[in-house]
Amino acid sequence: MTSYIESNKDRFVSELLEFLKIPSVSTESSSKEAMYQAANFVKERLLQAGADMAEIKETKGWPMVYGEKMVDASLPTVLVYGHYDVQPVDPLNLWKTPPFEPDIRDGYIYARGASDDKGQMYVHVKALEVLNNSGDVPCNIKFLFEGEEEIGSDNLEPFVEENKDMLAADVVLISDTSIIDNDTPSITTGLRGLCYLEVELTGPDRDLHSGLYGGAVVNPINALVAVLTKLKDENHRITIPGFYDSVAEVSEEERKEMAKIPFDGQAFIEEVGVTVQSGEKGFSVLERVGIRPSLDINGIWGGYTGEGAKTVIPSKAYAKVSMRLVPNQSSDEITQLVSKHIESLAPEGTTIKVTAHHGAEPAVTPIDSVAYQAASKAFMDTFGKNPVPVRGGGSIPIVPMFKKVLGIDTIMMGFGLDSDAIHSPNERFGLFNYIKGIETVPLFYKYLAEESKK
Ligand code: BES
Ligand code: MN
Ligand code: MN
Repeated sequence: MTSYIESNKDRFVSELLEFLKIPSVSTESSSKEAMYQAANFVKERLLQAGADMAEIKETKGWPMVYGEKMVDASLPTVLVYGHYDVQPVDPLNLWKTPPFEPDIRDGYIYARGASDDKGQMYVHVKALEVLNNSGDVPCNIKFLFEGEEEIGSDNLEPFVEENKDMLAADVVLISDTSIIDNDTPSITTGLRGLCYLEVELTGPDRDLHSGLYGGAVVNPINALVAVLTKLKDENHRITIPGFYDSVAEVSEEERKEMAKIPFDGQAFIEEVGVTVQSGEKGFSVLERVGIRPSLDINGIWGGYTGEGAKTVIPSKAYAKVSMRLVPNQSSDEITQLVSKHIESLAPEGTTIKVTAHHGAEPAVTPIDSVAYQAASKAFMDTFGKNPVPVRGGGSIPIVPMFKKVLGIDTIMMGFGLDSDAIHSPNERFGLFNYIKGIETVPLFYKYLAEESKK
């Protein structure tokens, strides 16, 4: 297998570059052509890689791609999930090379989606080709690639509900997370959930001259800032009553184990140009992003933001506020709780309206399973080191849904790095990581089949 990968490496890279050229930004309705182009690309490549079947499945939103390589009913079945949609590219002027004109520099492929998730999902298409070519596909493999992960996977849950038999599998396999570094492989054993709110605060019924009225009426932007400031205290603890009630506290033993993980928190923040760590008092950087919830303002606007100065007191002010959730917080419950709380904080003379965007539930995955063992052995073979189990800070809405609807656990075998700049300008994916992924995934199937026989 390694010699096949070695001699086809250049083609594997050029196929990914072709995939990365398609601007499949799911947030934009103008992406329609690109979304279908990307879905068709994936479908065709699955067939070329040796899938028995692959087809486009229409949804109310962007299409899914479903494919299968079924070898023998007595073998374990793996459901591979990934997403071909990507985040918007703005701010465009900060990209060194255009986001949809992939460029290879110093061992990295630079493009939107290079790591999240086109590059990582394409690893699985190439892994199928590698196995198929070797003449030994050790597991049944089902592929489900969607185009709406970055917008909350709203149409995927009903799709999974309606296609339980088709999607039945022993384990879900996803590459959409990162490893600690190229010398320290890791397996992501949990994800944070998400609650995303939009806050609209209204004061006077029209925009006002700030000289005529300034000092005599409430200013909605000042009021909104005051409200938002109240959501956390000086120790960065969230002050919303009941917010921590269902947070699963991690035991001292587990925290001791976590502290042994070779993750350099200071280096992690310095890589983004920050020198001082900031977060909930009493927790390490890894704990802050892995096992603790967080609250961030993602956007804030109102009044005059154009060129020059306009002396105005606006009628309204807005903010987008999101929270990362941990087990056993429920996205719906937190949405209710936090919306009511924020509305109750409206200063006299103002009203606040809170609306919720898509959310996601948190997830934890077992480390005592046959599939985890198989993933661990595969990493051992290709990286020469046992992978470290580590909780991920991001969200993948379908992971808890697969568990809820199909009863299947997920193995999150990511190959990216935290420094890949996912969602940011100059997103990248290491050529090393791409090829390592293509080497590691076939071994996962091999060990899963072996471990399942025991
Ligand atoms: N691949 C990421 C999630 C991720 C990244 C998990 C790194 C763990 C480590 C995914 O594409 C993503 O960005 N998810 C969104 C979900 C949201 C849109 C519902 C997120 O986490 O913001
Ligand atoms: Mn992703
Ligand atoms: Mn993403």
